[in-house]
Amino acid sequence: MKMFSANLDNLRKLYINQLRTLLSTEQQITEALPKMMENSSDVQLKQAFQSYLQETREQAARLEQILNELAGEASPVKCKVTAALVSATEDMVKDAADDDVRDAALISAGQRVEHYEIASYGAVRQWAQTLGRTADADLLDKTIKEEGHADHLLTQISNRINEQAQKAA
Ligand SMILES: [Fe+2]
Repeated sequence: MKMFSANLDNLRKLYINQLRTLLSTEQQITEALPKMMENSSDVQLKQAFQSYLQETREQAARLEQILNELAGEASPVKCKVTAALVSATEDMVKDAADDDVRDAALISAGQRVEHYEIASYGAVRQWAQTLGRTADADLLDKTIKEEGHADHLLTQISNRINEQAQKAA
């Protein structure tokens, strides 16, 4: 249960709160991706996670830039959704008993995170526009496009991996 209320009584406060929550998302993903790379068997999948990690760091830096300008500081607010997604990924990795099946599971985990991010960033981008923060909206849009590309790349890789996983065991 929550001990303190963030007392969000206007759109600007909600906007800042959700930017800080997204910063937590990017930080949690930055921590999880090296483990996901380690657990991947496919070289192309490892590379996809590697470039996703690089992008994630840049996306966190974008949020810090926006927050520093807006609020004078950039501290995260823990994202519980991302924590749950990361925890579910760890379970899938533990349960997968075949390399290709594990890779298929990791792809689905990555895509789940990307779609969550696309949805969350979509909302804050709209709020940025409403609040007249056009430069923020442009930066946030850049991140949304990167998430979309990462998602498409994983779909491409999954075409091959899923076939291999189907033949497993
Ligand atoms: Fe991201």
